[in-house]
Amino acid sequence: MVHHNERTDLDRLRQIIEGRRSVRHYRADSVPEDLIARVLDMALWAPSGWGRQGCSFVVVQGSVRKSLQELFCDALGEVRPILENIYPREKGYVDKLMDFFSTYGSAPVLVLAYAGRLPNGEDDVLTAAVALQNFFLAAHAAGLGSTWTDVMRVREEEINSIVDVRNQKLVCIAPLGYPDEQPKPAPRGKGRVSWIGF
Ligand SMILES: Cc1cc2nc3c(=O)[nH]c(=O)nc-3n(C[C@H](O)[C@H](O)[C@H](O)COP(=O)(O)O)c2cc1C
Repeated sequence: MVHHNERTDLDRLRQIIEGRRSVRHYRADSVPEDLIARVLDMALWAPSGWGRQGCSFVVVQGSVRKSLQELFCDALGEVRPILENIYPREKGYVDKLMDFFSTYGSAPVLVLAYAGRLPNGEDDVLTAAVALQNFFLAAHAAGLGSTWTDVMRVREEEINSIVDVRNQKLVCIAPLGYPDEQPKPAPRGKGRVSWIGF
């Protein structure tokens, strides 16, 4: 009989979930390809809408990573007002994010997440989102850092053309690398779970 130590599994999982942070500064060290592959394989084990596995990833480093960065730098002027709109009273934070986007935190790798299409023609962004959370947790458990970013999708067409993707919705651009910072967690708001019938 297999003894399933539920408490230990849950504690470990909680530690990984709580310990994951959005990392925006990376060391220059390259990430072994097989480690990236293991992390992405865990992303693919996520549930998917109607079991259709409607998401995919493009992993980029080297000269294509450089070309993407040139595009991102070119888009900074469009991105600032978007960030100012999201964070109207936090100029310091906007400046920090602008700084981050100008290099993507010097991450050696970028992971682009794409949504496939549902039978009703909608982009299956939810399936990409759950796969991404697996990816972030697996990356953290592997000693790597990442973060969800989406604001650079203002240049989606050009991004897709650089990585040669057609007819899929770009959901997220996630930098990947070894963290060069240990961000503090924002406290999580309470009172967001309602209990009925307990
Ligand atoms: C849908 C979504 C979009 C996000 N977009 C960005 C982004 O464009 N740039 C960025 O730096 N972080 C982005 N984030 C990361 C959040 O800022 C981050 O998750 C939040 O501040 C909480 O911090 P934590 O991930 O360290 O717990 C995004 C997160 C989500 C879920």
